[in-house]
Amino acid sequence: MSKKYNIAVIPGDGIGPEITTAAVEVLEAAASRQGIEIFIKELKAGGAAIDSFGIPLPQETIESARNSDAVLLGAVGGPKWDDVEPEIRPEKALLGLRSGLGLYANIRPVVVYDELKDASPLKNPGNIDFVIVRELTGGIYFGKNGGYQSGDHLPDGTVKGKVVFDTESYSEGEINRILKIAFDLAMKRRKKLTLVDKANVLVTSRMWRSLASQMSFDYPEVEFDCLYIDNAAMQLISRPSSFDVIVTSNLFGDILSDEAGQIAGSIGMLPSASIGAPGTPGLFEPIHGSAPDIAGQNKSNPMGSILSAAMMMRIMFGEEQVASDIENAVKKTLEKGLRTSDITFIGEENNFTLVGTKEITEAIIANL
Ligand code: IPM
Ligand code: MG
Repeated sequence: MSKKYNIAVIPGDGIGPEITTAAVEVLEAAASRQGIEIFIKELKAGGAAIDSFGIPLPQETIESARNSDAVLLGAVGGPKWDDVEPEIRPEKALLGLRSGLGLYANIRPVVVYDELKDASPLKNPGNIDFVIVRELTGGIYFGKNGGYQSGDHLPDGTVKGKVVFDTESYSEGEINRILKIAFDLAMKRRKKLTLVDKANVLVTSRMWRSLASQMSFDYPEVEFDCLYIDNAAMQLISRPSSFDVIVTSNLFGDILSDEAGQIAGSIGMLPSASIGAPGTPGLFEPIHGSAPDIAGQNKSNPMGSILSAAMMMRIMFGEEQVASDIENAVKKTLEKGLRTSDITFIGEENNFTLVGTKEITEAIIANL
């Protein structure tokens, strides 16, 4: 009997539909070679759902996602929905899926392919191969927020007026479970873990630091250190190849992973996995956004999405062969000089062939 996986696909907005279409084509081709069947159920979220249902995350989407084996997501958002009420912004769909599916661990691997080293703005990027483990369902993204009118004045006499606030809050349980994911991942890799925080200022960070230091005793083989976020932003540029696993809070992880995307040459190359409790569906998506400026023009780089499908096969289903087949096909396609416009660079025009989303997808399938 052949194996079957039920995948919920949420194309979303902007370039989302074209990159998820590409990822599904590659996934089906790679899986069928191993006798695996992929069943796709397409669901709406983000701006697409606002247009159809007036809300970014319909109940049917969250229910179907929950009943699937895994979720593949494109991207959500775009200028079309910039003026909707904050409560129904497209981004709410992503946050709702993350919290609704309990996806507390966001795994964002950052590698620089040899072929793309010149696309990195760093002079000597070296062998960059690290993973950002970002807490995804807590912190300031989900803390108490709001606003009120104040009659007070600032010390210099300025009228305060409206006061608004977001709050960062973390429980020991939330911190420990993500730390454990990070330590376990470090054990499978080069056994180095860096906690990124702001323990010189924030109470929450000080708890992260003390819990991580405590846990490090259970992992004597893991070389554990801590960096303040401002310093980490700098070290990531000055010595990117020395990092192995980085663990951090929701907001810091969001910022550092975009910086990492730039180091890697293009954010269009980077996949991610968001996972929750064992046995529940994870969500796999590229770390880039919906790029509305190039949507529908056959210009987007589908590799972040394709590599996310590979992560899904490995992490959710243990299908190592399918995952590595996809990753090798991507590498081979780059080796052959095929590039989407985001990973081309000046001075190298004679060494690559500029192609569109469809062409690079066909090449990846042919290279499987
Ligand atoms: C990301 C994105 C999201 C985030 C946005 C779209 C809400 O930037 O996945 O990194 O901030 O988490
Ligand atoms: Mg982000």
